[in-house]
Formats: sequence, structure tokens, C-alpha cells
Amino acid sequence: MPKPMVAGNWKMHGSKKFCQQLLTELKSFQDDSVDIIVCPPTAYLSLVLQQLAGSNIKLGAQNIHEQPQGAFTGEISAAMLQDIGCEYVIIGHSERRLYFSESSSLTVEKCKAAFEKGITPILCVGESQQQRDADETFKVINQQLNCVLEALQQNWLESLVIAYEPVWAIGTGLTATPEQAQQVHQYIRKLVAEYTSNAADSRIVYGGSVKADNATELFAQPDINGGLIGGASLKAPDFIEICRQAAMA
Ligand code: PGA
Repeated sequence: MPKPMVAGNWKMHGSKKFCQQLLTELKSFQDDSVDIIVCPPTAYLSLVLQQLAGSNIKLGAQNIHEQPQGAFTGEISAAMLQDIGCEYVIIGHSERRLYFSESSSLTVEKCKAAFEKGITPILCVGESQQQRDADETFKVINQQLNCVLEALQQNWLESLVIAYEPVWAIGTGLTATPEQAQQVHQYIRKLVAEYTSNAADSRIVYGGSVKADNATELFAQPDINGGLIGGASLKAPDFIEICRQAAMA
């Protein structure tokens, strides 16, 4: 069983003051049985890293460009993340797929770019409501995931983090039931097992309206190894409680 992981995706929220207040509270929680990551907006990455000094909380970014450098106004590279000490990056979040037209083949390039610089991708996959209603959940997961799994080297495969985030559950207050989530997580682990013998150790986390009061049941599922948390990661007591639940799972 992999060590549980909880990552907070702050999306486009926050300010200098907000970062400081939130991190001061988060740093008061210490439990080595869960890996905690915060993913602030790009503008605050360095500031957050400074404020994380002396804690076990790790830093993640929300996106990177797939190229190592160049004339790509407004973008940041994996090398830049490595340079400042950022260890994780969210790739292929459904908001990127939807609002910025990111394709699955682009997520392949981004995952490779991240690994080449020693940054661990948190690859998001998940179906829309319409796709679920049409009974296409597994087909969609397959399409989003297989191309990435196929392209990664063995050692990369072993450290890739996969976040199952049903689009219909993100920011909506609707959560997949623990059974629904477990069913997809189990399917994802089976897919990973086609590419590596260490699939049992792969981290597959759940995201989509995880809250302090539904985290316990989700994290108790055998194939759920923690969470990717949006809204609830912006409130220290809620995020700490979710981390505590993951540590106890
Ligand atoms: P949510 O977001 O927890 O607010 O639903 C999760 C995510 O988008 O990663």
C-alpha cells in the first residue's frame, strides 16, 4: 500500500496574506503517515515555498508548458519549477481540458516534461456527467490514461500520481459515492498493472468535492490513496481534518 497523499489545489485563489495565514495553520499539523502537498497559483509558488520552510509540506504547481523553454508568453517550464524547488505539478486537470482545450496527447508531453526535470506529475482523469450517463466512464478513463502510461519509462510509471476526478463532482458539492469511486480506482489500478508490476504501490487519489465529512469513507476504500482537494483546501481546519483522515486510513 502506498503512503496516503493529500494535495490542495488552490486554483486561482489567494493573496500574500491568505498564503501566510493558511500556511501558518497548516504547519501546525504534523503527521508523517500522510504526504501533504499544496498547489498555489504560480505567482505565489516561491513565497509559499519560503513559508513552508521547516515543515514536511511539499510544493506543487497547477500546470506547466510541455516545452523546456522558448517563446511561449505567459507559460512556465518544468525546469523553472525544478529551479525553485517545486516537487509536484498537476497535469490535465479537467478545467485545463475544458477551458484551455488541453488534449490527452498534450498531457502525455507535459508528464514527460515534468519527469525529465524530476517533478512528479499528478495526472487528472475523469468523466463528465454526460459520459457517465452514457455508460462511458471506463472508456474515457482508458482514453485519458493509456496514452500516458504507454509513453512513460518504467521508473516514471512507478512514481506517477493519478487523480480520479469525475468532472461532475468538481466544485459541485456532488461526490462520487465511495463505491463509485472505488470501482473506477480499481479499474485504473488494473490499467496501470498492464504497464508495471508495481501497480499495487501506485498512488491513485480521488478528487471532487472531498470534504472533512466524506473523506473518511472515501479514504477507507482499498484503491483510494488520498485526495486532490479544491474548495476544502482553502480552509485550514477542513484541509487539516482531511489530512488527518488520510493519515488514519
Ligand atoms: P473540489 O475540486 O474539491 O472543489 O471539488 C477538486 C479539484 O478540482 O481538484
